[in-house]
Amino acid sequence: MLMFGKKRWLVKVEEEKEFHTHLGIVTIGNAIGKPYGSAIMTSKDKQCWIFQPVPFDYVHKFRRPTQIMYPKDIGLILMMTGIGPGSHVVEAGTGSGALTSILAYYVRPGRVFTYEKREDFFEIARENIAKTGMLDYVEFNHKDITEAIVENNVDAVIIDLDTPWLVIHPAKQALKDGGHFVSFSPTFNQIEKTVHMLKEEKFYNIKTIECFSREIQTKEGATRPKKFVAHHTGYLTFARKTSDQLID
Ligand SMILES: C[S@@+](CC[C@H](N)C(=O)[O-])C[C@H]1O[C@@H](n2cnc3c(N)ncnc32)[C@H](O)[C@@H]1O
Repeated sequence: MLMFGKKRWLVKVEEEKEFHTHLGIVTIGNAIGKPYGSAIMTSKDKQCWIFQPVPFDYVHKFRRPTQIMYPKDIGLILMMTGIGPGSHVVEAGTGSGALTSILAYYVRPGRVFTYEKREDFFEIARENIAKTGMLDYVEFNHKDITEAIVENNVDAVIIDLDTPWLVIHPAKQALKDGGHFVSFSPTFNQIEKTVHMLKEEKFYNIKTIECFSREIQTKEGATRPKKFVAHHTGYLTFARKTSDQLID
């Protein structure tokens, strides 16, 4: 990734390639052999920095036919579910594939089984995820997840769609005992329906969290919160699947 101030470009390194920017032309071959954190010069004598991209840098450049999940919410999901290398996670709807690709990055060499019912979004998500290099860790289901989840014994089911309460029964079938259910919803009425259904299906440790994050402008004499931030994204409801066994 090339960076200059707030501008960032994801560029594939090829010997003969020339990359045009408002700062002049960058001869990409000049980056070969340079360590991350070093700089190359443009034709207008400006310095561009070379950094290893993080998943967020790819998602930033995605085609977005849908709202995508924000880093603050994805970070909380990772923390609260403990999913990591080797985990198997079911996720829906795929949407633009932002959450899918980040989950895939963290569960490698595990798997994300993603469900999307709309053909057009499904194709765009696949293209977006391909750009992140995570396709080998994603299995796509072009299906309505409320009808059935074909996987079983999974570590987590993570839902970002408008009717999460309809996914709780299939999620219970797919989860291993003790597994995590997570639902992201923008409104309170969705949370109430979801929590009601989680209780009906005997899920445990149900809690809903709203996560705030605010970037700070760091400028001498003017350090303060940035003026334009995303105020409301949604609420995350977490729950654990219990076994149906009762202790005598
Ligand atoms: C807000 S978007 C998901 C965005 C995604 N989490 C991301 O970060 O890019 C919601 C998606 O859920 C899909 N969807 C809604 N209901 C569904 C269902 N029952 N089964 C599968 N996909 C569904 C919609 O078509 C839409 O693409």
